[in-house]
Amino acid sequence: MAVWHAPGRINLIGEHTDYNDGFVLPMALPMGCTTSVEDAREGWSVVSAQASGTVAVTPSGLADREQVPEWATYVLGALWLLHDDGVDVPPVRISVDSDVPTGAGLSSSAALVCSVVRALDEHLGLGLDAAGLLALSRRVENDAVGAPTGGMDQLISLRGEAGHALFCDMRDLTSEAVPFAPAASGLSLLVVDTRAPHRLVDGEYAARRDGCEEAARQLGVPALRDIIDADEAVARLDDEELQRYVRHVVTEDARVLEAVEVLRAGHLDRLGPLFTASHASMRDDFRITVPEVDTAAETLLDAGAVGSRMTGGGFGGCVIGLVPEGEVDAAGDAVRRAFADAGFGEPSLFTAEAAAGARAVR
Ligand code: GLA
Repeated sequence: MAVWHAPGRINLIGEHTDYNDGFVLPMALPMGCTTSVEDAREGWSVVSAQASGTVAVTPSGLADREQVPEWATYVLGALWLLHDDGVDVPPVRISVDSDVPTGAGLSSSAALVCSVVRALDEHLGLGLDAAGLLALSRRVENDAVGAPTGGMDQLISLRGEAGHALFCDMRDLTSEAVPFAPAASGLSLLVVDTRAPHRLVDGEYAARRDGCEEAARQLGVPALRDIIDADEAVARLDDEELQRYVRHVVTEDARVLEAVEVLRAGHLDRLGPLFTASHASMRDDFRITVPEVDTAAETLLDAGAVGSRMTGGGFGGCVIGLVPEGEVDAAGDAVRRAFADAGFGEPSLFTAEAAAGARAVR
């Protein structure tokens, strides 16, 4: 039996830059998914502590993709792809158990996929290296599930390090752990899960991705990562929407590089203005925030945060703030009050420290 744990994530900065071959700076969360894989007598089956019943797959189902509940495609996807690759997958029983909230933008899906891939790699003796583990995990989400995501979530879930953020170059998929210890600067990373109902998430995400790819085509570059001067590029585009997308992606890449310098210098308070500028860029240029998210970000600033921003794909999800340690409770109360006043549902709040990436549990 192989048992692996893989975490969810928070992205500190660098939103919608990953599929533009750009830079991101995520950290792994203590919450994650634990997956065990063991031999079975016949067939393949999946059980989840968060869902009722067993999803069973017959031998022909491995090739034919029988209808399964959506969550199970994140698990069976790896088996389907290995089967397509010509791997003779013996009968196994897979059990998953996750404490990452779903639909909160904390990458519960990457935690699930990466823990399954690591446990299968060990149990089946696949011998995948770091690049192979990442490639298979990304294919599960992109090809088996069909979500056109950009790879950041799987990368951080596989390679995160405790006490560190991971500076990732999404073109060559290299990563470097950079110390992230807000407490050393008297700060806490406060997370507000707005619990805003996700609206149009899938379609809007794909539309942003298509828009960025179209802008790169019109600008004659392989990806928006290759644009250095946002103003010059914007002046060459006619479409107002594409102009805004380019401005967001190019300035966001620059903010990630600055954030890495700030972390290296250990001045975490200087991360604040970068967070806040990133939020404004997502709100005004990329247009992926919603009222709950904007309210949380603004309220945290009013309550003394040195910076705040939405994290993740957008249209709901979580907001992060760097808050002076002594003011975390008051900031949380201020957000709860602001949500009640606006008639929003109750948010959920927690402070987070950077945790380790995928690890064997035994
Ligand atoms: C989602 C996707 C990631 C990334 C972020 C936005 O989390 O899964 O690949 O694009 O949105 O930064």
